Amino acid sequence: MLNKKSVDDINVKGKKVLVRCDFNVPLDADLNITDENRLVAALPTIKKLIADGGKVILCSHLGKPKGEPKPELSLAPVAKRLTELLGQEVKFAADANVVGDNAKAAVAAMNDGDVILLENTRYRAEETKNGEAFSKELASLADVFVNDAFGTAHRAHCSNVGVTEFVKGDCVVGYLMQKEIDFLGNAVDNPVRPFVAILGGAKVADKLNVISNLLEKCDTLIIGGGMAFTFLKAQGKEIGKSLVDDTKLDYCREMVEKAAKLGKKLLLPVDAAVAASFPDPIDAPIEVQNVSVDAIPADTMGLDIGPETAKLYADTVKSAKTVVWNGPMGVFENPTLAQGTIAVAKY
Ligand code: 3PG
Repeated sequence: MLNKKSVDDINVKGKKVLVRCDFNVPLDADLNITDENRLVAALPTIKKLIADGGKVILCSHLGKPKGEPKPELSLAPVAKRLTELLGQEVKFAADANVVGDNAKAAVAAMNDGDVILLENTRYRAEETKNGEAFSKELASLADVFVNDAFGTAHRAHCSNVGVTEFVKGDCVVGYLMQKEIDFLGNAVDNPVRPFVAILGGAKVADKLNVISNLLEKCDTLIIGGGMAFTFLKAQGKEIGKSLVDDTKLDYCREMVEKAAKLGKKLLLPVDAAVAASFPDPIDAPIEVQNVSVDAIPADTMGLDIGPETAKLYADTVKSAKTVVWNGPMGVFENPTLAQGTIAVAKY
């Protein structure tokens, strides 16, 4: 599906290679990495670049430090674990400016086959605004750019988008990115039918093009998560204090009409797990009530799909031959509110 240049198409011998990874891994209170899947997934590209004699400069964001150096969101623990996983030192370029004097000095001292990791790109406020200055600074470190951060591909930030305008040499994808796009491309463009697409997560705005495009390709589109409430409100339902994007009500109505015109099924929740307020902290015990979407009390908010919806969605998934899923059905970080997501996932 994808004709993008990859790390197999370039010669990095002796070149400085900036690699955007997605090392946004969960850390516990002692800063131990509690799930290292994303690190393991990045290894094939990193090993390939080392073997080819590149100077490998890794970068990533971690959490949402909002433009400030926050020690608890430093990538230092990632450098330590990557060193163990690779069996070779991954030098951590500690630098509050990400591309400050320390990082520049670390890059200047690199030999072919060395690996360094820059500090959390979101320590810089410009990162999430795709600002030109920080994009240029990142680009100035490297001859070549490799994007292997599939988990971040939906963001237009300096370290995955802006930087590509200023790197003088090639900009290519890594193996992880290539694999994910090939799988997704095949699934979406050449699906074994029935093809069911599941979209969840908080914001309709994040998924605008995805909803419209998927409707043209899938047989059934399932909507869950916070974004479902904007669809429900667009249909005139009381949604209480649930998450809503009032600027997207017309868009939701258009999508429902589009589905009908194309003869596609667009499934919305029929019931929801509601509570008086959002859990704080997010995994705190919470009491929920399962109510029909026609009877959401005005003083409650919907935080997960209800059991009827979970059954409806699970039955739909059961009969599918291709399923593409993006985003949870509820506040999955909370065990009580993860029920809908888990029920659908089981099928
Ligand atoms: C993720 O974990 O979903 C990606 O790393 C993107 O993170 P973000 O939602 O903080 O941009």
